[in-house]
Amino acid sequence: MDRLDLFPLSAKIKNDFLTIAGQDLAKLAEEYGTPLYLYDRATLDASVDDYKKALASHYPSTGFRQAQPTNSGQRPASASVTYAGKAFLCTAIAQWTQMHGLHVDCTGEGEIAIAMAGGVPREHILVHGVNKSTADLKSALQHAGTIVVDNLTELKTLESDSLLSKRRKQASALQIWLRLLPGIAVDTHHAHTLTGQHDSKFGMTREEILEAATFCKNNNLPLNGIHFHQGSNFRDASPLKAAIERGLDLAKEIGFNDDWHFSPGGGWGVTYHEDELPHPSIENYVRGIAEAVIEGCSQRGLSLPHLHLEPGRSLVARAGVAVYKVGAIKRRGDKVWILIDGGMTDNPRHALYGARYSCLPVAGVGGESGVLSLSKQSEKISIAGPYCESGDVIIEDLPMPYIKEGDLIAIPMSGAYHLSMSSNYNGSCRPAVVWLEDGKANMIVRRETADDLLKRDFGL
Ligand code: LLP
Repeated sequence: MDRLDLFPLSAKIKNDFLTIAGQDLAKLAEEYGTPLYLYDRATLDASVDDYKKALASHYPSTGFRQAQPTNSGQRPASASVTYAGKAFLCTAIAQWTQMHGLHVDCTGEGEIAIAMAGGVPREHILVHGVNKSTADLKSALQHAGTIVVDNLTELKTLESDSLLSKRRKQASALQIWLRLLPGIAVDTHHAHTLTGQHDSKFGMTREEILEAATFCKNNNLPLNGIHFHQGSNFRDASPLKAAIERGLDLAKEIGFNDDWHFSPGGGWGVTYHEDELPHPSIENYVRGIAEAVIEGCSQRGLSLPHLHLEPGRSLVARAGVAVYKVGAIKRRGDKVWILIDGGMTDNPRHALYGARYSCLPVAGVGGESGVLSLSKQSEKISIAGPYCESGDVIIEDLPMPYIKEGDLIAIPMSGAYHLSMSSNYNGSCRPAVVWLEDGKANMIVRRETADDLLKRDFGL
């Protein structure tokens, strides 16, 4: 795979300079400073289109979004894409989700607030969380269309909340789904990104789901869906089939058969490094799920559910690029350390999961052909940040064209789980985020300042 293929779809090399959406990255870095995060609208849109097209081709619904009732009054199955906001959420991204009619998965009151600031309507807000706080549940009851219940304790807390009766009066306004722990793992390459294996902290066992369903029935709670999420960043979807079967078995046992919802989560992987296989096909993933659901429902005599897919990474990772400035360069034995002005505080993924990234210089990329020429390659480099941690590393031993102090570098596949997991370690300030669309650049999140850090710090 060519290294440039890791970058957003609009990335080009022009006169030896890397550009995205027609914008020169060096100019953007000069204007907005570094570290800088860029999001390419065209790449974001293309990933949504891939999901929508695949659902339209493989799931026999009346189309994307909520289907209208038929003459018999029963709503035919529909399909929807729910963006997992934990991958990266800010007001602009929330606004973008609504340009495509996406639902948004929010974990807790903070993400609900951001989604609302971006105009996501209640019926498109779905709330997840493994141990939701009272504040999370209150916010969900007030603002969300769907609450995915993770455990029995949470269900009981929800039932006892005074806001529930208000929502009950709004009839169809609230849906409750139960999160199943399928007990089946997928290959995510790292234990920390697994959620569906038998000893996971997430979700409920079959027995717990049945108990929760009985509780919902006895307490007149609007239960109408089953969800599971097996893990994140897998590219072999075959274990999903068995988990889908378990979900459908439960749907049958609970007695769902009309206007019910099924969500086999998200987690479809992406390619981070040119050494890996090409970007996994969204269509293959969606087709596999759709076929398993259709076949499983027919075998069990279940009506087709409204099918919800919950991608995060595969919607936004490739659209994002991180731009850093090179400071000192150190040679230590075989290692060449390129020290940059950001690192584990804006991208903790190498430190947390050993994630492998690639990179290009912003200038001197290697010719006008648009293809990186590693003929200018000087050596293998490792890229580390300025923070007081030996694990503050982003890239290890990557062949690179020669780079020197003061150069800018661009790291692709930076759109998911970087800024959403960022920190202020060493008092660092989070980077600015710039939206690139049709040759225009627009700052959507400003750089954090030391004043921001002091805003909630009152002293003695
Ligand atoms: N649905 C649920 C319930 C989830 O927990 C997640 C991710 C998703 C959907 C979306 O998964 P995606 O399509 O983005 O893979 N910080 C880790 C990933 C943690 C994922 C947590 N849950 C990383 O950087 O790889």
